[in-house]
Amino acid sequence: MSGFQRNSSGQAVIGAAVLQHIVETGTLTTPAYIYDLDGIEEGAKALVDALGHDNIVAYAVKANTAGSVVKRVARAGAGADVVSAGELQVALACGVPPARIVMSGVGKDTAEFDQAISAGIRGIQVESVEEIARLAARASALSHDANVSIRINPSVEIDSHSHIATGHDEAKFGVHLDDLDRAWAAIDAAPHLKAVGVSAHVGSMLTSPEPYVASAKVVCDSAKARRAMGKMLEFVDLGGGFGIDYGGQPAQPPTVFAKAALQLLAEQELADHQLVVEPGRSIVGPYGVLLTRVLQSKTSSPRRWAMIDAGMNDLLRPALYQAHHRVESLSAPPSGTPWRVVGPVCESSDDFGLHAISETLPDYVVIRDAGAYGFTLASEYNGRALAAEAFISKGQIESISASPGVDAWIKSRLDA
Ligand SMILES: Cc1ncc(COP(=O)(O)O)c(C=O)c1O
Repeated sequence: MSGFQRNSSGQAVIGAAVLQHIVETGTLTTPAYIYDLDGIEEGAKALVDALGHDNIVAYAVKANTAGSVVKRVARAGAGADVVSAGELQVALACGVPPARIVMSGVGKDTAEFDQAISAGIRGIQVESVEEIARLAARASALSHDANVSIRINPSVEIDSHSHIATGHDEAKFGVHLDDLDRAWAAIDAAPHLKAVGVSAHVGSMLTSPEPYVASAKVVCDSAKARRAMGKMLEFVDLGGGFGIDYGGQPAQPPTVFAKAALQLLAEQELADHQLVVEPGRSIVGPYGVLLTRVLQSKTSSPRRWAMIDAGMNDLLRPALYQAHHRVESLSAPPSGTPWRVVGPVCESSDDFGLHAISETLPDYVVIRDAGAYGFTLASEYNGRALAAEAFISKGQIESISASPGVDAWIKSRLDA
């Protein structure tokens, strides 16, 4: 498992490929996401092994939807957590077996229900009593049974940015515990719905398993209550949210979360249930970088800025929830007085923060840990084309997904 590293000469390396060499080949336009496919597969495999192959590591596809990435994660034996028909089709086309796919989402449309039902996925995670009625109607219309799991709102606060906390009382996600009996009754009463699981996802960027376990206990209580009624479920799904180290706060590795989940299941005497977890960020985040060209500096004493050709439209996380990503030179580790690194977008929030890159500005810099929620959150705001993506394997570029380019953007707007 490598991701971003520095070699003995101090050069930036991703997946055994020296980034400076990639730049010199001239094969990539910038900004460009570059992913270490071998690192992703190895990391996913380590997690699958830690959880046990009878259980499911349902990779949260929203973190990175690139086919090359999802295929590697599937090859490692992982399943998928999807939130739309688009993600479902990508997961299926990349070889994820339907029996290892769960679908979450607070507002699924009819086509999404129909595709999930027809594919026979492991669990359609319903998030409200109202949704159960809509799902039941579609299953009846298709005369097809559907595996249903209830995503509960466990009422657990986590120490993360409010935009990535999803399991507290005010969150729109999940069935509130007061409504749970009603929700189970609605599933049990529907001829084509089969209650198979219960899940929760408290949010993202957990740096230790404690809040995860707090939410997991609420999930386990629900599973035990069902079993006590003689209506045993097949799986408990404890969600994702395993954090990564963006250079600020260290995070426990994903396997530590997996072991904590397994231990909890045993303690709760629920080992007769399959265990599902839904990690996204930890599978791909550390194995991607965003390569960007330095356009120019701007000095107005006492400040000095570095203007780069990647903006918040390419990597939204800093603007969306004040996320921190390390920005570094390709040729040497951080040094010198910090530069304020900003993108070209006309928003003050298009700001990647202060970084000691090097005393004089290099031609290119790399934004680290951009493999998750990078390209998938990108937009064409300000008339900017989506970034290119390159996929590294065995130290070489295996494939490139080229940027559609500004001309494609111009055409699409003129066609509108
Ligand atoms: C339902 C659900 N599961 C899993 C995840 C993955 O979270 P993470 O990428 O933090 O592991 C998310 C992220 O938003 C989610 O909404």
